[in-house]
Amino acid sequence: GFSWKLPDHQKLPKGKTIGLIVLDGWGEANPDKYNCIHVAETPTMDSLKKGAPEKWRLVRAHGTAVGLPTEDDMGNSEVGHNALGAGRIYAQGAKLVDHALASGKIFEGEGFKYIKECFGQGTLHLLGLLSDGGVHTRLDQLQLLLKGASENGAKRIRVHVLTDGRDVIDGTSVGFVQTLENDLAKLREKGVDAKIASGGGRMYVTMDRYENDWDVVKRGWDAQVLGEAPHKFQSAVEAVKKLREGPKANDQYLPPFIIVDENGKAVGPMVDGDAMVTFNFRADRMVMVAKAFEYENFDKFDRVRVPKIRYAGMLQYDGELKLPNHYLVDPPEIERTSGEYLVHNGVRTFACSETVKFGHVTFFWNGNRSGYFDPSMEEYVEIPSDSGITFNVQPKMKALEIAEKARDAILSRKYDQVRVNLPNGDMVGHTGDIEATIVACKAADEAVKMIIDAIEQVGGVYVVTADHGNAEDMVKRNKSGQPLLDKSGNIQILTSHTLQPVPIAIGGPGLAPGVRFRNDLPDGGLANVAATVMNLHGFEAPSDYEPTLIEVGEEERH
Ligand code: 3PG
Ligand code: CO
Repeated sequence: GFSWKLPDHQKLPKGKTIGLIVLDGWGEANPDKYNCIHVAETPTMDSLKKGAPEKWRLVRAHGTAVGLPTEDDMGNSEVGHNALGAGRIYAQGAKLVDHALASGKIFEGEGFKYIKECFGQGTLHLLGLLSDGGVHTRLDQLQLLLKGASENGAKRIRVHVLTDGRDVIDGTSVGFVQTLENDLAKLREKGVDAKIASGGGRMYVTMDRYENDWDVVKRGWDAQVLGEAPHKFQSAVEAVKKLREGPKANDQYLPPFIIVDENGKAVGPMVDGDAMVTFNFRADRMVMVAKAFEYENFDKFDRVRVPKIRYAGMLQYDGELKLPNHYLVDPPEIERTSGEYLVHNGVRTFACSETVKFGHVTFFWNGNRSGYFDPSMEEYVEIPSDSGITFNVQPKMKALEIAEKARDAILSRKYDQVRVNLPNGDMVGHTGDIEATIVACKAADEAVKMIIDAIEQVGGVYVVTADHGNAEDMVKRNKSGQPLLDKSGNIQILTSHTLQPVPIAIGGPGLAPGVRFRNDLPDGGLANVAATVMNLHGFEAPSDYEPTLIEVGEEERH
């Protein structure tokens, strides 16, 4: 029968403290002036790289290596941390939704039947991120959902759009809204009353995560549910164009707006008897809005009016909290993660990041699961993020504080694994501010040094890696890798993640002699890291895990 007990590793000892560092948004790319990691002073990461090929290598962090549909899909934190923690490659939300739409099964499932009940009398509301970034949503999936919903009897549809500029180039929101307007016009020709009802920038409206700032969700609620917003327009294209003209305005931070009819009345507030689907497949930035819609006793902000609607998520975003209760596509069933195995095998774990990445090293790491496996074996520490700012104004973020917490946890000798996420490269990279991203990379490097120094002191082992690329390339490039210029000759800033591989380095005084990276796994990816870490804790990984990246060289053993 099944057992949580892991076999002892034949060659590697138990009891070493492992410092496990995930640099968020830290890929490997050609050194040029748009590679902020290259430009920044990063002596610690530079010295780790000198350990190649035995102690440093690259691993794949995008596309099929992390369960995404194609090799054109850049990596992201959800799929990256899922792979790191689970040690196997799961078909991820993007892919599962693709399959459900292609086969039509999505329209036969429980979740769709549930919302379909409202199609006779009520309005179907679709709420989510409007772009083709493929991280939280894809436009083509929304298009198929619109088509399927209308074919299945939806007579009145309202779309509540969140503009992107973070997983795609800033300014592309205008084109995405135009495309959606064309699609809705075609539906209207077929007799479906379909319109955009509200909008706003994803980082300012609705898509907060890990309870960093509930005001973000409230702004969305007011516009989408109550039909109230500071800006009112008769056309969504006009709304986005106008609001982008504001000082410092960009797609990520557009203020909330509603669409009104010729009498100034909101065209799409949510009322009793309506149905609503949040069409994002990715979990983190949908959990808070799902709580606002699902929880009867909700006290994070005054909802004013709570319509009785039927709500379904594209996926279930949190299996532990059952949020939301109804959903169109089954989420990946990520089970038997390395975290769960390790607590069953006596490995005491400490995990830490700041709020905006806290769930990455806990919730995502543990297979989209909230809370502890065993509170007596684990401690998770969240350092509050600065809220209400864009991180280019504070590019050091809480890297130092995270490193101090990790250092103290290591020196306390109370833990066998001390795991952190250092957010700087990613969160500052997403602002598109190159100068600030250089400062961010230096801060992350200093944090790595502090943690490695603590590992040195306790005779432990470190593993330093990343979840996907971002800061190593800040410019959009053509196929041959040259920076793309816009009409006025300016470079196009790349705020998004990349397709680049990420580094992984091992070391520390506790690393057994002869341990080195194997050379027979050239395509190794993030999913290979879990088995590697289990080995370093002195265990063999479960047989269905992706293979370990390390071996113990015979000739060097004592
Ligand atoms: C976000 O949600 O901030 C971006 O879409 C993706 O960034 P992350 O995958 O690094 O969190
Ligand atoms: Co990111």
